[in-house]
Amino acid sequence: MNKIIEIKNLNKSYSVATNFWGREQKFVHALNGINLEICENEILGLVGESGCGKSTLGKCVLKLEPITEGEILFKGKDISVLDKNETKEFRKKTSLIFQNPYMSLNPRMKIYDILREPFIVNSIRDKKIIRERINEVLNLIKLDQSDLAKYPHEFSGGQRQRIAIARAIMMNPDFIVADEPVSALDVSIQSQIINMIIDLKQKMNLTMLFVSHDLNIVKYVSDRVAVMYLGEIVEIGNKDELFENPKHPYTKALLSVVPKINDKGEKKIILQDDLPSPYELPKGCKFHTRCPFALERCKTEEPKYYSDTETHKTKCFLCE
Ligand SMILES: Nc1ncnc2c1ncn2[C@@H]1O[C@H](COP(=O)(O)OP(=O)(O)OP(=O)(O)O)[C@@H](O)[C@H]1O
Ligand SMILES: [Mg+2]
Repeated sequence: MNKIIEIKNLNKSYSVATNFWGREQKFVHALNGINLEICENEILGLVGESGCGKSTLGKCVLKLEPITEGEILFKGKDISVLDKNETKEFRKKTSLIFQNPYMSLNPRMKIYDILREPFIVNSIRDKKIIRERINEVLNLIKLDQSDLAKYPHEFSGGQRQRIAIARAIMMNPDFIVADEPVSALDVSIQSQIINMIIDLKQKMNLTMLFVSHDLNIVKYVSDRVAVMYLGEIVEIGNKDELFENPKHPYTKALLSVVPKINDKGEKKIILQDDLPSPYELPKGCKFHTRCPFALERCKTEEPKYYSDTETHKTKCFLCE
């Protein structure tokens, strides 16, 4: 399968000065040794608690945030060494869908101007081409011609997110990061948007990193799922492998608290304490401080990835 994104040993830390003089610099270790591939026409779901580094990963992959160490390849090319023209092409071929459609659309612009923006950025001025493509996209996302003359406030949250998605797909991108694209929406609207995303994926041959903390949504939209904890991928696999046969205690804990329709009264694993400080990461397995099954060696030794199948990998000694 064609690899669209390859991430190799990616580290990202934010430097944070702690006193007035900027001395005593501390680092937030947001991403720690990420290795990941995203193949053509797949949706990779990314889940994990707040603060585990999901958005940071999304921003690094889109070159919106500089990385500290490692390599990110887009269609085989290192994105950190792109020249000006290549960066422009990269921006054209990638896009981001934000969480909040109330904030991502300029309230002073008409929908037509919002949708025209990507063309301007890419120096496309031919009105006919612009008009035709906008009409095409309007059809895809089921908005009406008459909507083009309106302002964002005239639309509901779901419609606004459709407009934001329209803008994101305007240039026919090869890769999209959707960062919690439905979390700000009513539950009743969420499935509409999710179905639209799946539909677009098929029609446009899209590849997507889909960030969400809602496991039910991730299960529905993703082909593969990666579970993140303190800036590491602790488990990754095909959707069914991960949901039917989770291996990592953290994944099990996340899954055990997801509300189910036929709740068979399975035991819930409630994690103690909050996420440890990303300033000082725990030694050994980063999850050992909260893991109900931690062994002595987990406190000092870092586990490697153990493979269950060719596609299912878990970073935990219990899988040895
Ligand atoms: N610009 C920044 N400067 C300093 N620290 C940052 C910055 N952005 C993120 N962080 C820190 O990096 C870590 C990862 O943050 P990130 O926003 O990627 O998490 P997340 O998984 O997207 O969380 P959420 O689910 O709440 O959106 C957190 O500890 C966060 O505080
Ligand atoms: Mg985030």
